[in-house]
Amino acid sequence: MKIIVTGGAGFIGGNFVHYMMNKYKDYKIICLDALTYAGNMETLESVQDNPNFKFYKADIADRNAVYEIFEKEKPNIIVNFAAESHVDRSIDNPSIFLQTNVLGTGVLMDACRKYGIDRYHQVSTDEVYGDLPLDRPDLFFTETTPLHTSSPYSASKASADLLVQAYHRTFKLPVTISRCSNNYGPYHFPEKLIPLMIANALADKELPVYGKGENVRDWLYVEDHCSAIDLIIHKGRVGEVYNIGGHNEKTNLEVVKIILKELNKSESLIKYVTDRPGHDMRYAIDPTKIHSELGWLPATKFEDGIKKTIQWYLDNKSWWQNIINGEYKKYYDLHYKGR
Ligand code: NAD
Ligand code: DAU
Repeated sequence: MKIIVTGGAGFIGGNFVHYMMNKYKDYKIICLDALTYAGNMETLESVQDNPNFKFYKADIADRNAVYEIFEKEKPNIIVNFAAESHVDRSIDNPSIFLQTNVLGTGVLMDACRKYGIDRYHQVSTDEVYGDLPLDRPDLFFTETTPLHTSSPYSASKASADLLVQAYHRTFKLPVTISRCSNNYGPYHFPEKLIPLMIANALADKELPVYGKGENVRDWLYVEDHCSAIDLIIHKGRVGEVYNIGGHNEKTNLEVVKIILKELNKSESLIKYVTDRPGHDMRYAIDPTKIHSELGWLPATKFEDGIKKTIQWYLDNKSWWQNIINGEYKKYYDLHYKGR
């Protein structure tokens, strides 16, 4: 079995590479990643010398490069994690989101058609559904909830998601799609809420909470996302969409306070800052389908997952300190200055 994992030097893709290489000792895992600001070879350090692992630095939107890799490797399965993934950056600069998330997905599927594969899996997101109101806790996203996006990021992911469905219907490409809620865990880039708050709290810096901090996200430990994708690519039905989430809703303020408490830091570090434009209020996944069809359930409770995550950031300071002291510093200063 040969799997191409695109975006494998990023947060979830990197965790997926480790998960698959630990679980399937005879699988060949090929990582295809452009190494944008979000890609980090240190994430893949421990597998780099494994003969079953191979890395290609390539852009998924570069047709020639992608075709060359497919021609050479003849993969069975493609799992597409590669994307521009940060909502705030999509507000600053939407075009790269269209380029990578939409056009890149199209190139990958063209390569699948040209060279033939057993499965193309698209890692989509719950953000394609838009948001839910705070005063309707009875509502959840199901796979049939209409797509209704808010940010350039979510619009680009929804476009890719629809393109994948179109390639299935029109060209009979054997695809599956997963739409997962917010992930957290090791190797999470420090521009995202949880690692940003851990890093700032450790440095006794202000914790910038958008608006009133009342927006709700449905948090899932990253390994549980990996186990769900593993099940879908092996046992999921072709042409189907699977929601992934563990019914773990928390307001941003709750999450930030838990982190501060775990680190023994004062809540006075919290700073309420100007809200994100178009900020989605609440995400909440109904995971009934993946549970009843494939038997998937999350293994890690938030109370345990957040402790493990904080411990990982304490044990791996050089991984994230290299990032926050590099190019990222400019983004941080620009994004949060005067907010
Ligand atoms: P990330 O930003 O940490 O990593 C993205 C990776 O893709 C990086 O390694 C980057 O170098 C690579 N990449 C970017 N543009 C590329 C291109 N043109 N060609 C090749 N590689 C490229 O992202 P993440 O948080 O790990 O998210 C991975 C996927 O999961 C994305 O598709 C995202 O939409 C989806 N998703 C994320 C979450 C979440 O909570 N983080 C939840 C649901 C779905
Ligand atoms: O739901 C899945 C999505 O989750 C993925 O598709 C995206 O790729 C991923 O980035 C994530 O999107 P969010 O916008 O929910 O994640 P983020 O970590 O950027 O923000 C989480 C919440 O925290 C959100 O309500 C905004 C808020 N926030 C974020 C930052 C960076 C703050 O209050 N302050 C901040 O500094």
